Amino acid sequence: MPIELFISGKNWRLSLAELTAYLKAREIKFEINFFSKEFFTLTFENRLETSVIDALGGTIKIGEEKTKFSTKIVKEAFFDRKKQSQKQLAELLASSGLVDEMDKSAEKLFFGVSIYSSENMWHPLSGNIQRFIGSKVKDELSDHEKKSKFMGFGKDRKLAQLSHVEVLKKNLVETKSEVLLCISKEETWVARTVAVHNPFEFQKRDVYKPIQRTIFGMPPRLARIMVNLSACTPGKVLLDPFCGVGTVLQEALLARANVVGVDVNPWCVNASNENLEWIRREYNLQNAEFRLLQGDVGKLAEKVGQETIDCIVTEPDLGPALRQVPTGPYAEKIIQKLEPLFFGLAEQAYKVLKKDGRLVLVTPYIITRSGHSVSMPIAEKLEKTGFKLVKPFSEEMFAKNARDHEELVSMRSLVEVDERHKISRQIHICQK
Ligand SMILES: C[S@@+](CC[C@H](N)C(=O)[O-])C[C@H]1O[C@@H](n2cnc3c(N)ncnc32)[C@H](O)[C@@H]1O
Repeated sequence: MPIELFISGKNWRLSLAELTAYLKAREIKFEINFFSKEFFTLTFENRLETSVIDALGGTIKIGEEKTKFSTKIVKEAFFDRKKQSQKQLAELLASSGLVDEMDKSAEKLFFGVSIYSSENMWHPLSGNIQRFIGSKVKDELSDHEKKSKFMGFGKDRKLAQLSHVEVLKKNLVETKSEVLLCISKEETWVARTVAVHNPFEFQKRDVYKPIQRTIFGMPPRLARIMVNLSACTPGKVLLDPFCGVGTVLQEALLARANVVGVDVNPWCVNASNENLEWIRREYNLQNAEFRLLQGDVGKLAEKVGQETIDCIVTEPDLGPALRQVPTGPYAEKIIQKLEPLFFGLAEQAYKVLKKDGRLVLVTPYIITRSGHSVSMPIAEKLEKTGFKLVKPFSEEMFAKNARDHEELVSMRSLVEVDERHKISRQIHICQK
């Protein structure tokens, strides 16, 4: 059964939650074999389409497993510098078929090697490992009488990893020329990059859309992750009742949902309208349907109709823009002041959602001056309203031999800390 490797974005828990929610919503069967802060390995019944990467906000690269061996060999080869283990590693690489697959049509072949590891102890050695694999690939290519250029890095680079931009610019996916070495405590995978995240597309939707609002703006990548967490699939109706300039709505439109946006501020309703028109033109989505309405969240059910919505994805007001990290009491005060708005939303959301419909909601999460976190008691309110909380991870997602996933399975929400802001986001998923 095919094994695929996923290189995650910065917030790996969020990346893994998005990926699994996306797969589950499409009834794609999978098992998580291994996860770590840099990469995951999943088994599928069939190969995943590589275009999936464009639909995910939190996955940087997807690789196809070529071979797998015990990490003991890598340890002996690089920590103990055993010649015999280095030879064994070179043979394993040669028999993996990686070099055979590389596109040799150009006069000179560009190739790259990136090293990912579950443990930091590999970081100081990753440059050596990368050069070792690079030189083996180069030798093999010259055996094929092929000239090649190995993409090295500047000395200042901390990790021996090519960025998604480098992979894109040198067409390493198309020429099948990026090797991934993913090292865990026990096993090491060798893979070929089959898909890479395109940051330019997300950036375009962030900075080139006609109307922007930087203070309250949510990055499109996070908006896409939240849309995926809501189990939104093409044709579903997705609502953002605090739509602002329409970042969530634009990502939902690209996910082929029919979208409805509501905001109390008429300027926002117009801004969303302009931005969604732009998305429709820019991405040739002539048939995409959207509806934008001005109104207060307290009257949501009256405005959009009861049981008309499949998914709600939203980030209401998260509090004032703070200059300094707040004290505990001040953080509590900020959150208490916002509670009526969120509690009101919970009740209205329950009314407008169809049965089994999902709500993905951001609440403020504040790390205070003393390092404690203050959050909103929204889970209790949601449950009281009638919602069932959806945990981001469940036991059945993991392979029988997967390890250390208790912490993930016990999680009830996801936290996204953005260093630039004093107020972070806590993401809750629940179902009617
Ligand atoms: C944080 S912003 C949403 C940002 C949006 N996710 C984006 O990236 O464009 C919150 C929005 O909620 C709207 N809002 C505040 N109170 C509201 C209420 N009572 N009913 C509806 N909308 C409200 C504000 O006008 C603001 O546009």
